[in-house]
Amino acid sequence: MKGLGLGTPTYVKNAKLIAWVADMVALCKPSAIEWCDGSDAEYQRLCQKLVDAGVFTRLNPAKRPNSFLACSDPTDVARVEDRTYICSATQDQAGPTNNWVAPAEMRATLQPLFDGCMQGRTMYVVPFSMGPMGSPIAHIGVELSDSPYVAVNMKIMTRMGQAVYDVLGLDGEFVPCVHTVGVPLQPGQADMKWPCNPTKYIVHYPETREIWSFGSGYGGNALLGKKCFALRIASNMGLQAVQGDGTGWLAEHMLILGVTNPQGKKYHVAAAFPSACGKTNFAMMVPPQGFEGWKVTTVGDDIAWIKPQADGTLRAINPEAGYFGVAPGTNQLTNPNCMASLHQDVIFTNVALTDDGDVWWEGMGEAPAHCIDWQGKDWTPEIAKATGVKAAHGNARFTVAATNNPALDPAWDDPRGVKIDAFVFGGRRSNTVPLVMQGRNWVEGVYMAATMGSETTAAIVGQEGVVRRDPFAMIAFCGYHMSDYFQHWLNMGESLAAAAKTSGTKLPAIFTTNWFRKGADGKFVWPGYGENMRVLKWMIDRVEGNAQGVDHAFGVSPAYEEINWAGLNFTPAQFEAATRMDAGQWRAELKLHEALFTQLAHHLPQALVVNKAKLEARLAG
Ligand code: OXD
Ligand code: MN
Repeated sequence: MKGLGLGTPTYVKNAKLIAWVADMVALCKPSAIEWCDGSDAEYQRLCQKLVDAGVFTRLNPAKRPNSFLACSDPTDVARVEDRTYICSATQDQAGPTNNWVAPAEMRATLQPLFDGCMQGRTMYVVPFSMGPMGSPIAHIGVELSDSPYVAVNMKIMTRMGQAVYDVLGLDGEFVPCVHTVGVPLQPGQADMKWPCNPTKYIVHYPETREIWSFGSGYGGNALLGKKCFALRIASNMGLQAVQGDGTGWLAEHMLILGVTNPQGKKYHVAAAFPSACGKTNFAMMVPPQGFEGWKVTTVGDDIAWIKPQADGTLRAINPEAGYFGVAPGTNQLTNPNCMASLHQDVIFTNVALTDDGDVWWEGMGEAPAHCIDWQGKDWTPEIAKATGVKAAHGNARFTVAATNNPALDPAWDDPRGVKIDAFVFGGRRSNTVPLVMQGRNWVEGVYMAATMGSETTAAIVGQEGVVRRDPFAMIAFCGYHMSDYFQHWLNMGESLAAAAKTSGTKLPAIFTTNWFRKGADGKFVWPGYGENMRVLKWMIDRVEGNAQGVDHAFGVSPAYEEINWAGLNFTPAQFEAATRMDAGQWRAELKLHEALFTQLAHHLPQALVVNKAKLEARLAG
C-alpha cells in the first residue's frame, strides 16, 4: 500500500534493518506492519486472531491449557526438498546434492512473485536469536512473514522479541529472512483457511546470507530460523569462518544430550539422525530398569552449532529454544518426557481433534471412538480399518518451548555451550548396518558419517520409505558442496588433534548406530527408545577406555557381555541379529558408497577414498 508508514518502534535502531524492512514493504506491499516484541500478551493476541480466523482451534483448557490445533492445507504438509535451492555464485559451490540456480536468475524469478505478495495481509517483523542471546556462538536473524502462525511458532522455537534489538545495536549483523504464503488478498476477498501457493520456492543465497521463502506455511519451509538459517546458511557461515579468523565451526543436524553416571560424572553427546528418526526421543530418553542413578538431560533435539576451542575441545549450543517434533508414534512408553512437555502451551499441527477438545495421533494410545481427523473429516477406528485413513498426518507436529521439558539440561541456555565427548550418526536401515560401531579414528568416523544411508520418512514430501544416502543426516541441509563439507570435518579433526597434543585433551569419539534393523520376521530386532541407554553407556565406556569392543572390518562394536543387560531379556542370538556384519550385504553397501563418491567426485577428499580402499581390503581379507 502506498504511503504505509513503517511505524518503527523507538527501540529499533539498526539502520540496515530499518532500510531492509522499508525495501521489503515496498516490494511485498502488506496492508499493515507489526513489529513483534515477543511478549506473552502479543502471543496471546496473535493466537486469538488465529482462532477468530478459524486457523487455530483452542483446545479444551481443562485438558490442554493454552494450547491450539492448526490443520494445514493437504498440499502443504512437509518440507519441499525439490523446491529448495542453494543459490551460491557458482553451481560448483552448491555441489551436486543441492538444487542450484544462478543468483541473478533466481532473483529475476522471485521478483514478480514477491511483488505485492503480502497485499491485504499484515507483515510481521520477527527478530530472533539463534542461541542464547549474546552467546559467542549465537547469531541473529529477522524474519518478515505474512503468517501469524509463523510469528507464534517463532516465539516458541527461538529467543524472539525486543531484547534481540539490544544485541543487534546500531550496526550488528543479522540474517534477513523473507517469508510469504504467496496468497495476496484483494479488498473484500475471503482468505483461505491455510493460505499457501501451489508454487513454492525455498531459496538461500549463501554469499549474501539471505533466505527467501514463497508459497508454504509449513514447518521448515516457513519457520526460517530452523533448517534455512540454522543449517543451510549457518553451515556456510561455519565454513567461511575458516577464511575469517582461521577457525571454522560446524552447524549440524544433531540433538545434544547430557548423560550423567551414578558417580555424578557428566558427558555430552551430539547425535545426527535423519528427519523423523527419533532425535527427540533419544534427546529426552529415560534410562530403563538396570540404570538406576543414570540421568539423561536434553540440551537440544534437532540442531547443534559447534565451535572448536583453543584447547582442542568442541563446545556446542542448541540454537533453538523449542521443539518442532513429530507427533505420531510419541507416547508414554516411547517418550514420557515428551508427553509431559505437551501438557500445556503447545501448538499442534495436523493431529486429530477429539470430541472432548483434546488431541490424538496414531501411536499415542487407545484410539478414541470418534474424532475429527487432520483434514476435518469424521474419523473412527472403523473408518480407519475400512479405508486406511489416518487421524493424524504422518508428519503431524507439536511446537513446544524447551522449558516445558522436565528433562531439560541445566546448561541448555549456557552461552558457552557444552563440551562434546562423542558424536553419534544413525540411519534408519532394515539391514546391513549394526546396532552400533565406532570409528577407530577421526577419518573412519567421518567416513561412516559421510556414507550413511537411511530410509526416508514423512518429513519430506513424496519420498517415504526410499533408502537414500544421507551423509551426516545433512543431505537436505548442507548449504554448500557436500565434499567440501567432508573436507571441513576432516580439517576440523586435524586442527583439534594439533591443539589436543599440547593441551592433553581428547577428540570426541565417533559412533554410528542403527536402531531400526529388522529380523527375518520383518519386526524390529532392537527394542529402542529407553533401551538405547544400554548402547549409550557402552559409548561412554569406550570414551573412558573401559570397554575393549570387538574389532571388525568397519570399526569397533560391543561384545555381548560389554552391554549392561540388567532389566532386559535380550539374548545373545538377538544381539547377533542386531549386530551381525554380513559380508555380502556390505559388499553391496560399498557399491552404494562408490556411487555416492562418484556423484561427489569433484572435490571428494582423498582421505575418504583411501579409507574406502582399506575397508574393501579388510572385507576381502
Ligand atoms: C525437522 C526435519 O523438522 O528434520 O526437524 O524435518
Ligand atoms: Mn530435523
